[in-house]
Amino acid sequence: MDSATARELRDIWLEYSVLLFRKVDWTAAEHIAFTKTFGTLHIMPRLGTEIPVNLRQHPEIFVVSNIEKNGKPLGVKRAGWGWHSDGEDKQVPNMASMLYGVKTPKVGGDTGFASTYRAFEALSPETQAFLDGKRARFSRVEMHLINYPNLPPLTEEEKRDRPDVWHPIVRTHPETQRKCLYIGRWAVEIEGMADEEGGTLIDELTTHIAKSEFTYIHKWQPGDVVLWDNRCTQHCAIPYDDSKEERHMLRTTLEGDVPFHLTTDGRRVESSLDQ
Ligand code: SIN
Repeated sequence: MDSATARELRDIWLEYSVLLFRKVDWTAAEHIAFTKTFGTLHIMPRLGTEIPVNLRQHPEIFVVSNIEKNGKPLGVKRAGWGWHSDGEDKQVPNMASMLYGVKTPKVGGDTGFASTYRAFEALSPETQAFLDGKRARFSRVEMHLINYPNLPPLTEEEKRDRPDVWHPIVRTHPETQRKCLYIGRWAVEIEGMADEEGGTLIDELTTHIAKSEFTYIHKWQPGDVVLWDNRCTQHCAIPYDDSKEERHMLRTTLEGDVPFHLTTDGRRVESSLDQ
């Protein structure tokens, strides 16, 4: 792509948050090259699993798959079953992800996308004001086996590599400056709130984000490529019968930046590690 086309595409993406390209037939190298026009590629770490999570020849490509070859899994099964945005449990979450449907089920296996701009805008002014500048603690260590019950527990080294992080619950998008809700399935505590009360609010907000009025459910066809903005959307691989249907997806992921929020009274609240 020339730079004018790339700029135009980025502007459209910033406006709509999720883009769909159909009838794509490309190699891993082309997938990587196209993703690079949007930013810096991220390599997914192997967390809590012995199986290879990335393509051997192209570690920039993360494999979501329930297919086995010679008794060995080709990728991570049941990845992303549950609403989340990629990397939200890290201080520097991922900006975007691009998922390529290679083999897609005839029944089920859809992916839901939620606009966290819309979810924020639909909150009452009182709730928006209450959340403005508040942060939530996200914990891979506490939530790993809850969100990934099919994976082995994290090793001590993996736990050290993924310390808890505090993120602003209302996030200012760094490119559009719009406000969105930034809270997901790794959140475990809200600043200044007792455990039970904070837990209830986390449940309410995550349920709110996934309401049908803020979501688009994508029904995959082989050759579909979906690019989403993790800063202002959440997504969910909707559970399907993976004992009957084969699903093989290849994902590139882009590096992001430290989330921040500019509050209505002019403060800048940033994500930081739980020290
Ligand atoms: C993911 O969370 O990136 C996987 C989404 C999907 O497989 O639909």
